[in-house]
Amino acid sequence: MTMKDDAQASTSIWMATANTPSQSRLKENIRTDVCIIGAGIAGLSTAYLLGREGRSVVVLDDGSIGGGMTGRTTAHLTNAYDDRYVEIERLHGGEASRLIAESHTAAIHKINEIVTVEKIDCDFDWLDGFLFAAKSDHVDLLDDELAAVHRAGLVDVEKVARAPLDSFYTGVALRFPKQAQFHPLNYMDGLARALMRDGGRLFGQTHAGKIEGGADARVETSHGPVVSCEVVVVATNTPVNDRVAIHTKQAPYVTYVIGVRVPKGSITRALYWDTGDPYHYVRLQTEDGYDVLIVGGEDHKTGQANDGFDRFGRLEQWTRERFPQMTEVKYRWSGQVMEPVDGLAFIGRNPLDEDNVFIATGDSGQGMTHGTIAGMLLTDLIQGRKNNWEDLYSPSRIRLKALPEYASENINVAGQYTDYITAGDIKSESDLRPGEGAIMREGVSKVAVHRDRDGTAHKMSAVCPHLGCVVAWNSTEQTWDCPCHGSRFNAEGRVYHGPANGDLSPPTES
Ligand SMILES: Cc1cc2nc3c(=O)[nH]c(=O)nc-3n(C[C@H](O)[C@H](O)[C@H](O)COP(=O)(O)OP(=O)(O)OC[C@H]3O[C@@H](n4cnc5c(N)ncnc54)[C@H](O)[C@@H]3O)c2cc1C
Ligand code: FES
Repeated sequence: MTMKDDAQASTSIWMATANTPSQSRLKENIRTDVCIIGAGIAGLSTAYLLGREGRSVVVLDDGSIGGGMTGRTTAHLTNAYDDRYVEIERLHGGEASRLIAESHTAAIHKINEIVTVEKIDCDFDWLDGFLFAAKSDHVDLLDDELAAVHRAGLVDVEKVARAPLDSFYTGVALRFPKQAQFHPLNYMDGLARALMRDGGRLFGQTHAGKIEGGADARVETSHGPVVSCEVVVVATNTPVNDRVAIHTKQAPYVTYVIGVRVPKGSITRALYWDTGDPYHYVRLQTEDGYDVLIVGGEDHKTGQANDGFDRFGRLEQWTRERFPQMTEVKYRWSGQVMEPVDGLAFIGRNPLDEDNVFIATGDSGQGMTHGTIAGMLLTDLIQGRKNNWEDLYSPSRIRLKALPEYASENINVAGQYTDYITAGDIKSESDLRPGEGAIMREGVSKVAVHRDRDGTAHKMSAVCPHLGCVVAWNSTEQTWDCPCHGSRFNAEGRVYHGPANGDLSPPTES
């Protein structure tokens, strides 16, 4: 069965092979201890762990379970930090680096524990991970990284002569033992079933509109029913309840993946990463009679490139050069990651908000472990327990050493506002072929126009309802993407990724 996605056009290997049940819409006002918005790995991990402690939990999602970026991941479960420990140590210091290694290691073990206890059939596998140099002059980076990794407490990591790949020579590599992989949507399904067994309630197709903390905390859905609660957790990948504070501290990037068919057993099962920027990430997944080699990379800032098919092509070329046993490309998909300027997720109390409103965001390429850390950390905070990772992941933190990264991302955002004064991509909607979208100028307004496969043109304001940037057409995914903070809308303007929490408006309202 293929999971339907009415937002992005592409289908991941997990969506094509999962059997995630759909949840019904919330129909009436209800009360609960904790209302969690978002049924991705962050929301469901938090819900499951709170449910295990006897708290009553309601989860709302405006799509389906795992229908956000959790269904589009590649699901490497790793403590080999993708921003590198050298950089993390520079930005946060040695003690923080140790806690980061500890928390990601703990997250992998927590997933394994849940899979075992709940008997979740999700292909969980312990594996080695190998980091190798993308270019010969990157070899020194590996030595520096090994020293930083050891200082962070991962003393089992070692330098080896090459990664265990026969088809190409990687040169020296770092071997990270006790990494893992799984099928993310089958894991989500297991978490959801266990949550419901513990009395948790899950609602799909339920969009959370107004979110209020304080003594009368409540979440109003866009179709009417209200959830009253003691605590709200906003696990919507990027917070839809925060207008500015967090969104200047993280930046959205689109990343691309292909899944290619290779003979079963022809490639050693492990996780592989190179040191490129953007880097390549590689793993295997077994299907009937063959393996699928999953290769990701080619990231760019959301809404600032529209050449996804070229990027898939470059991933294919990179893969063919290194794995000549590959045959057809079976899957092509993309997704978005939120990159925090200082490399660490934001998990905890929402800045400038009531004390009973929590967020989890800034997943970067490590959202499987960050989402699980969110589950553990938020459960402790909500249950009033101390957690050693609280300050590290605090959404209110400011790391002065990350100011250059902060400035560079925000100068980039400021540059996007010049789109107001430029001409449109097309002069008239008759310039559009079916399946295309473009920005058009109408008087002083910018209008987003999409012509669907049946030839009908859909027109809407091109102005993002978050903070007013002009959206851009993504022809690979048939979406409108905001180049400022990563809001995304389907071809007809329906929001499916924040921080915007509403649709593109009709053109006359712009
Ligand atoms: C291509 C790709 C490869 C990746 N590879 C890896 C990897 O190998 N390892 C790793 O650790 N991480 C990886 N990541 C990152 C990881 O997949 C994500 O960080 C993680 O899945 C995010 O989980 P989440 O729960 O924060 O968000 P999501 O899974 O996006 O869940 C958020 C949910 O909130 C819902 N929602 C949003 N707004 C509302 C609203 N107003 N009302 C109701 N519901 C709402 C959405 O429908 C969605 O289901 C990758 C990501 C991508 C895109
Ligand atoms: S996402 Fe912030 S302006 Fe669009």
